[in-house]
Amino acid sequence: MKKPVKVLITGAAGQIGYALAPQVARGAMLGPDQPVILHLLDIPPAAQSLEGVKMELIDAALPLLAGVVTTTDVDEATKDVEVAVMVGGFPRKAGMERKDVMAKNVSIYKSQASSLEKNAAPSVKVLVVANPANTNALILKENAPSIPAEDITCLTRLDHNRALGQVAEKVGAHVTEVKNVIIWGNHSSTQFPDVAHGSVGRTPIKEAVKDDEWLKGDFITTVQQRGAAIIKMRGMSSALSAASSACDHMRDWIHGTPSGTFVSMGVFSDGSYNAPKDIVFSFPVECKGGKWSIVQGLQIDEYTAGKLKATGDELVEEKALALQCLEEQTS
Ligand code: NAD
Ligand code: LMR
Repeated sequence: MKKPVKVLITGAAGQIGYALAPQVARGAMLGPDQPVILHLLDIPPAAQSLEGVKMELIDAALPLLAGVVTTTDVDEATKDVEVAVMVGGFPRKAGMERKDVMAKNVSIYKSQASSLEKNAAPSVKVLVVANPANTNALILKENAPSIPAEDITCLTRLDHNRALGQVAEKVGAHVTEVKNVIIWGNHSSTQFPDVAHGSVGRTPIKEAVKDDEWLKGDFITTVQQRGAAIIKMRGMSSALSAASSACDHMRDWIHGTPSGTFVSMGVFSDGSYNAPKDIVFSFPVECKGGKWSIVQGLQIDEYTAGKLKATGDELVEEKALALQCLEEQTS
């Protein structure tokens, strides 16, 4: 039996937390032979509900579940965790842009950064899910300087998986046949879902789809607006797909991407593909040995360069807004 890994889920009494905790405890994130101890954090008003989640986890008799810690104390929650999935925060409601949840959420990420830095295992890998995901991850990074920047990421795998799903539905292929789509930039409606380097089986996506108008139009807007479309249908934001994609993100980061396959992750930008530096930007990445690297050398046409610029500009603007919110809260 392997030594259990301590996995932090913040916002664990919420809807993503409820979907995510059992998936992690069934091995979808760290593997089918990796026991886990779940550290579930929420705020005091959600404490009772959090206890209910723990009761259900016990009732599910999960073989990989070696323990559950439920707490409203951030320092207890972050103690020795090797994996941190940061879901806690306030979700977007109908009619709101992700930017609108900024003021509420960035201050959470500033304070939880310090706790992670102080208490987590030195090798901790952090995935920020809560919106605005890229900017929350950036604020976390800025406030946890001893955690290496490459160990702090945000979730754009859901957008990536949405793009795979749309192409698979369009051509009538199984989703596993579709690969190497890219989500560039922000987890927002300015993100650019790019299929120029992707394939269905051995056929380039463009040839398999045979509908350029769809690829340049409805495909892009569907993926960009899918979060809002789910909110409209469910009256709540996506949860099962977000939880599943968070597992995909962490699993590929830790266990590696299959040879010749890349995935999208929000990572600290080194300026690749002319993206602005010092923001968290979604790039195509390959993972090996627990490390990600940005796929280099992809041809970028003028149209794509314009889309990358727009989403990069939004992230620079979001960063300024986040810093302003934090300043206003401290003054
Ligand atoms: P939810 O409201 O159901 O759950 C959020 C939980 O966070 C609540 O239980 C709340 O009490 C808790 N919380 C609030 N402040 C906290 C704090 N300081 N510390 C710990 N917990 C805290 O929301 P949800 O639907 O689970 O969504 C969570 C977040 O994920 C939202 O910001 C949402 O917009 C975002 N989201 C991101 C993606 C993505 O792809 N990146 C996808 C879906 C949702
Ligand atoms: C999503 O993409 O489903 C989430 O980010 C929720 C939202 O606010 O769109």
